[in-house]
Amino acid sequence: MKKITFVCLGNICRSPMAEFVMKDLIKKANLEEKFSITSAGTSGEHDGEGMHRGTKNKLVSLNIEHQNFTSKRLTQKLCDESDFLITMDNSNFNHVIKNFQGVKNKTFKIIDFAKNLGYDEVPDPWYSGNFDETYEIISKACKNFLQSLEDEI
Ligand code: 4NP
Repeated sequence: MKKITFVCLGNICRSPMAEFVMKDLIKKANLEEKFSITSAGTSGEHDGEGMHRGTKNKLVSLNIEHQNFTSKRLTQKLCDESDFLITMDNSNFNHVIKNFQGVKNKTFKIIDFAKNLGYDEVPDPWYSGNFDETYEIISKACKNFLQSLEDEI
């Protein structure tokens, strides 16, 4: 069982989208017994809240499950339990590397799995309001990431 934790700043927009997109891909590939997927934020500012309406609406429009989500802050314990920490932007990546122990070899930027899209990071829809763009990047990266994992398992 591999545990993957997606990480953004608030854990209400990008990392919940990645969590549920990845769960959907894993379900469709019949790999649910091989993976455990969650998400967390570096700020903790939205702890206990649901996901952003923009993320929820996008998932609903695509018929992707979005239930049972509560925003939470990334902790050392969750880092220790995770095999992969997949961050959404350079700031999240740097935060994780700087603030948690034993994470260097398992922390990645999601954009590393979709380099051909021409982005350096996933733009934050909290500011851009563009959840379609967020989805396009995240879904392509998650597909490529899962494919790379399938080669391993
Ligand atoms: P996220 O987006 O990191 O993708 O969840 C944000 C959510 C909330 C805030 C910033 C970014 N905020 O400043 O409250």
